[in-house]
Amino acid sequence: MEVKTSLLDNMIGVGDMVLLEPLSEDSFLENLKNRFEHNEIYTYIGSVVISMNPYRSLPIFTPEKVEEYRNRNFYELSPHIYALADEAYRSLRDQDKDQCILITGESGAGKTEASKLVMSYVAAVCGKGQEVNKVKEQLLQSNPVLEAFGNAKTVRNDNSSRFGKYMDIEFDFKGDPLGGVISNYLLEKSRVVKQPRGERNFHVFYQLLSGASDESLKKLKLHRDFSKYNYLSLDSAAVNGLDDAANFRTVRNAMQIVGFMEDEVQSVMELVAAVLKLGNIEFKPDSRSNGSDESRIKDKNDLKEMCELLGIEQSVLERAFSYRTVEAKLEKVSTTLNVAQAYYARDALAKNLYSRLFSWLVTRINESIKAQGKTRHKVMGVLDIYGFEIFEDNSFEQFIINYCNEKLQQIFIELTLREEQEEYIREGIEWTNIEYFNNAVICDLIENNQNGILAMLDEECLRPGTVTDETFLDKLNTICAEHLHFESRLSKNSKFLTDHSLPHSCFRIQHYAGKVLYRAEGFVDKNNDLLYRDLSQAMYKANHKLIKQLFPEGNPAKVNLKRPLTAGFQFKASVGTLMRNLQTKNPNYIRCIKPNDKKASHIFTDSLVRHQLRYLGLMENVRVRRAGYAFRQPYEPCLERYKMLCKRTWPHWLGPAREGVEVLMSDLPVPAEEFSFGRSKIFIRNPRTLFFLEERRRQCLQDLATLIQKIYRGWKCRGHFLLLKKSQIVVSAWYRRYAQQKKYQKIKSATTVVQSYTRGWQARKLLRELKYQKRCVEAVTTISAFWHGTQARRELRRLKEEARRKHAVAVIWAYWQGLKIRREYRKFFRANAGKKIYDFTIQRIMQKYFLGLKSTLPSMSPIDKNWPARPYLFLGGVHSELRRIFHLWRCKKYRSQFTEEKKAVYEEKLEASELFKDKKALYPSSVSQPFKGDYLEINKNPKYQKLSIAMEDKVLLADVVNKINRANGKGTARLFLLTKNSVVLADQKTGQVKASVPLPDLTSVSVSTQSDGFFALKLKEGSASAVKGDFLLSSEHLIEIITKIHRMGTTAADREQLDIDISDEFLVQFKHDKVCVKFIQGVPKNGNSVSCKRKNNRLLEVSVPSTA
Ligand SMILES: Nc1ncnc2c1ncn2[C@@H]1O[C@H](COP(=O)(O)OP(=O)(O)OP(=O)(O)O)[C@@H](O)[C@H]1O
Ligand SMILES: [Mg+2]
Repeated sequence: MEVKTSLLDNMIGVGDMVLLEPLSEDSFLENLKNRFEHNEIYTYIGSVVISMNPYRSLPIFTPEKVEEYRNRNFYELSPHIYALADEAYRSLRDQDKDQCILITGESGAGKTEASKLVMSYVAAVCGKGQEVNKVKEQLLQSNPVLEAFGNAKTVRNDNSSRFGKYMDIEFDFKGDPLGGVISNYLLEKSRVVKQPRGERNFHVFYQLLSGASDESLKKLKLHRDFSKYNYLSLDSAAVNGLDDAANFRTVRNAMQIVGFMEDEVQSVMELVAAVLKLGNIEFKPDSRSNGSDESRIKDKNDLKEMCELLGIEQSVLERAFSYRTVEAKLEKVSTTLNVAQAYYARDALAKNLYSRLFSWLVTRINESIKAQGKTRHKVMGVLDIYGFEIFEDNSFEQFIINYCNEKLQQIFIELTLREEQEEYIREGIEWTNIEYFNNAVICDLIENNQNGILAMLDEECLRPGTVTDETFLDKLNTICAEHLHFESRLSKNSKFLTDHSLPHSCFRIQHYAGKVLYRAEGFVDKNNDLLYRDLSQAMYKANHKLIKQLFPEGNPAKVNLKRPLTAGFQFKASVGTLMRNLQTKNPNYIRCIKPNDKKASHIFTDSLVRHQLRYLGLMENVRVRRAGYAFRQPYEPCLERYKMLCKRTWPHWLGPAREGVEVLMSDLPVPAEEFSFGRSKIFIRNPRTLFFLEERRRQCLQDLATLIQKIYRGWKCRGHFLLLKKSQIVVSAWYRRYAQQKKYQKIKSATTVVQSYTRGWQARKLLRELKYQKRCVEAVTTISAFWHGTQARRELRRLKEEARRKHAVAVIWAYWQGLKIRREYRKFFRANAGKKIYDFTIQRIMQKYFLGLKSTLPSMSPIDKNWPARPYLFLGGVHSELRRIFHLWRCKKYRSQFTEEKKAVYEEKLEASELFKDKKALYPSSVSQPFKGDYLEINKNPKYQKLSIAMEDKVLLADVVNKINRANGKGTARLFLLTKNSVVLADQKTGQVKASVPLPDLTSVSVSTQSDGFFALKLKEGSASAVKGDFLLSSEHLIEIITKIHRMGTTAADREQLDIDISDEFLVQFKHDKVCVKFIQGVPKNGNSVSCKRKNNRLLEVSVPSTA
């Protein structure tokens, strides 16, 4: 269901001033203040929106807010500028009514911001699509461009619009934007050459200098430093919160979006630069010979640069600053300019240049944004025009601006009244005349064609002869003296003769918004807005497309001797056009109010706001609106809102809404004159009545809320109760089921137990019976078996007895037979039968023995000890002899497979066995090691190449041995080489021969009985080798070495056999001493190695770890 809301809901203060009760200036102000303090910056007066400047960003301009206000009725939601924009847009789109949005207020009140909010709202809610978005973007982006060139920082506003702007946005029948047209009004061009204290020149100058790249500045012949330019005020060059450089980029970007070509942008920037340069041209006085005053340019550099920028010949411009040519019909008179005139000319040129550039920009933007096609468009005009201005020193500009505001006020009153009246007629309500102040008289004072102030100013400007501001003021004094809204010291009205607040050189006008004192000085000049023809011609001569375009009057071919139109005249004409334009449209008002002078948020200065609400005529506005009926509302929403106040309309009224409202109102205690029924709306005369309705509604809503609450609670409790009941049934059902299930299971299991017992009992009974039967059967079987067994055994015994008897009979018979036969044949056998039987038997046995042996012979391995067991005792000798012969035979077979080398090896092994078996404990471990001989591979090892060459005979054994040092018993590694003839000891590393002992010089070798590798080579006394004494060596291959040395002795016929002495103590001859080498059994330590120590001069003790 759609929730109906109303402006009246959650209202802070009063959302619509029309409903203010009591209505007074104070209550008006109080209401505004109250709302402002609660961030409610918008308040209505009927359909007029009052906007307070919050001076801070509020979260009420979000896309969500746009959606909230989209397509909602004006009074449906709390006041907002979006509501007004939506209303305007919808009546434009749906009712085909052209709209205008008039935004007024003083400088800094938020007009420009409001206009942008309206435009952005419309852009957000209107159609979408590539083309439409482009148009929207161009329309929105025209703002930054115009703001850069037309806005400036003033003491009142950091971004003050110094021109009036009216923008027509054109829409097609669907409400999609097609384009727009911008009109600009009276740019404050005097600002270009001079700015009041604390104010700045137009933003673009500062933006260009801060934001342009170094390269661009160089091109434009500019410096970044503001202080280099006379036209730029320095005291407020930097403005808080204003980033000129960033804004410059924004402006460049916006220009691009709007459609400016790159060369156009460059031309514009050149003109801006030229204005800055122009400001730097200074003059000095110079006297001519004829005595007339003349001026000369001080430093021509800036002039030169400016001319270069604009493509003007320097001399032409120089001359234009020195002379003034006046053309009249056929005459041409040239006069020199003095310094003051030269400065005047320079500033006039700067102002003209800039203001024309500005107008050109507007035209150029219009060219881009104008709607295509010629069909009639719907139009929404947004007017953001300078507000009413009262300064300390008010001049021509303020006069013009205030005149414009006067006209706007007039149109406002006119249109508001007209609208009010139209509504009354439309609704068929009787029209009551409303008293209000009509400012048409003030407008007349200014614009009347005969004796209006502007007309008189023009007259003065056109009049031949000396014309000054004083003559103008005199004229005013004479002509307007009688006017009620004109005040002057010199007027005939004696009332002001003594008014010292009114200086002689000023006049005062009582505007609708207050009195304003104008200083007459400068009126004539500013109205004339004269630019010497020489200057415009010089500009026209420029070789610069844009500047030529800006000064068309400088074209010598089109010399127009007519005076140009005055500024006042032009303005009046454009205001006239604007007013006519506005009158054709449906107006929507936004009245902006500035809460304080400090540009600060949260400050509400009563006096300032009071002043504004006075001159904006807001009280007047409320009064007009309330004059007849303060409040009106269509019947449907009215009935919807208040239907609960009457039993007949609540909750539903089925008839037409109007009748419903009539029934409703007649039911309420409201006097009949308090309201009136229009065609579609009810009109309520007094806000009190509305608030009465609201109060009743509030109470009613409370009662209704209680009722709803009551019903809801009842419903909820009932629902809860029913739920509980239902749940209880479900729970109990479940529980019962559960209990029954349990009971059933119990019975079932009890039954099963009983059943099982019964079955068990039956089964056991059966089993017992079966067992008994079985036992009976078994007993019978056993008995019968026993019985049969007894029978069988009895039978067996009988049969055996019978058989024995038969056998005995047979044996006896055989014996008897044998006896008989032997007795008969004894005589034939007695001689050799026994021997033959014996031989035969022996032969059979032997044959069986040999054949059996053949199949059970052991393997051919000589170490196989198996031999079949002896079968007969009498064969014992043969059996062991055969075993011996078989063993010898298989040994022979085995030997016959040997090669010569293998044979030699076995011979050596055999010899070693003869020498050491059971004599030395080391021997058993050597049996399994093959005798390799050359352990060093002396022929192949390149390290021993030299040594191998040095050896004369074939090396039979080469190994590393330890030569025991006779001094300390420690060993030194030596190479031990054995050849057929000698034993050689050599250095292990170098291979150098250390000792060579011919084998004949060896007498004996001594070794211990233990498992060590020590051996002493004893030398023949007196032989050459014995000089150094015997050798005590140790080797891992001791058995092989000694065996090989011993074999050499055995094989050589010419030598004595070498003695092998095996004992644990032997003497060794060391040089001159005989040392006893003693072997003891030691405890194994240091890795089980043999250690040798010199105990004393005579004893060398070798400790051999016990092998056990
Ligand atoms: N709705 C708003 N929200 C936030 N700040 C605002 C709003 N309206 C105005 N302002 C602030 O106030 C400043 C002045 O507003 P704006 O320029 O619109 O005033 P103006 O009425 O156009 O003045 P002028 O007549 O000098 O051009 C803005 O720069 C902005 O800082
Ligand atoms: Mg503005």
